[in-house]
Amino acid sequence: MKKTLVLIFSLGLVSILLSSCAKKTLKDYAAKHGVKTGVAVAVSDLNNEEHLQIIRENSSIVVAENCMKWESVHPGKTTWNWNEVDRMIEFAEKNKIAVKWHTLFWHNQNPRFLSSLETREQALEVMDEHITTIMTRYKGRISEYDVVNEMFNEDGTMRETIWYKTIGPDYIEHALIKARETDPNAKLFLNEYNNEEQGNKKADAMYEMVKDFVKRGIPIDGVGFQLHLATIYPYNAVAVKSNIRRYADLGLEVSFSEVDVRMPVPPSENSLKTQTKIYSSLAKLAKEEPNVTSFITWGFTDKQSWVPYTFTGYGDALLYNRDLKKKPVYEAVLQEFAKK
Ligand code: G3I
Repeated sequence: MKKTLVLIFSLGLVSILLSSCAKKTLKDYAAKHGVKTGVAVAVSDLNNEEHLQIIRENSSIVVAENCMKWESVHPGKTTWNWNEVDRMIEFAEKNKIAVKWHTLFWHNQNPRFLSSLETREQALEVMDEHITTIMTRYKGRISEYDVVNEMFNEDGTMRETIWYKTIGPDYIEHALIKARETDPNAKLFLNEYNNEEQGNKKADAMYEMVKDFVKRGIPIDGVGFQLHLATIYPYNAVAVKSNIRRYADLGLEVSFSEVDVRMPVPPSENSLKTQTKIYSSLAKLAKEEPNVTSFITWGFTDKQSWVPYTFTGYGDALLYNRDLKKKPVYEAVLQEFAKK
């Protein structure tokens, strides 16, 4: 009896030691700094165990690359497709991974029936139905929402989306109010690209709008910096930091929501160095700035990235190569999060 007890105790001790020595991953190190790491998940990932294992290893939050967009989830006025969304959420829940909804409203990947909207009343009715149907169905299962995505033009004026044209510029605050009313516990984000550096017209216009929302009590919890960056363009970490800090002063979170750093391919040594510098700087900012709460890459493998289809001659923007192996830039990001 005594020998059995000693054996059980020793086995228990070994398993505790083994688990504590298990190689820490990107998400483990980032979590120590209050940062959730994750990736955008494609529907095809859900059928690929190798992909799912990498997603599990690196993600404490996931976002849908496409299946939660209108054209997929709400393709007709009374047509809803929940299958791919349910599968993704079930995968996340099974692996204790949070889910971010992308995106309730934007100008792209919309179904044809939205173009028939003419009046403010018609558009508000359809907007409210979209919000209440989704956020009621997934109440308590989706931790944060990109409520509106890409609402500005590069010069800081409002993008004239179907929602802007039918409802007016107050469509954004209307969506935020309705979303908060529907699921008070979900975090509400506004998401944008080229909005990361203070001093940029688009970034400053977004900040001024959000500052006004906070002043007027319009519900909002954070802003997404998509951070689709490129080695050929300037990157100003000081301007990014001051932008993060002014959102912190408003009491808001910042999500690094769609990170990838593209470069001309095949990559030169210099491009690889620049890419590593940018990724490491972003990891350092996420680690050091308390209101940066997520570091999400837009996919994880260069084999499956939007970049080459959009920017001919560019690619290699992510942390895993086409053979699903970690690239040196992955190690650089991990080391940055691992540093005290
Ligand atoms: O679903 C259709 C399929 O039926 C058809 O056979 C196929 C070929 O035409 O196209 C499929 O639709 C594609 C869709 O992705 C779903 O795979 C569209 O052509 C394609 O244009 C679309 O691209 C997505 C893009 O958003 C659309 O703007 C990318 O995968 C997705 O990574 C990208 O993600 C956006 C974020 O939502 C917002 N921020 C920028 C980011 C990159 O553009």
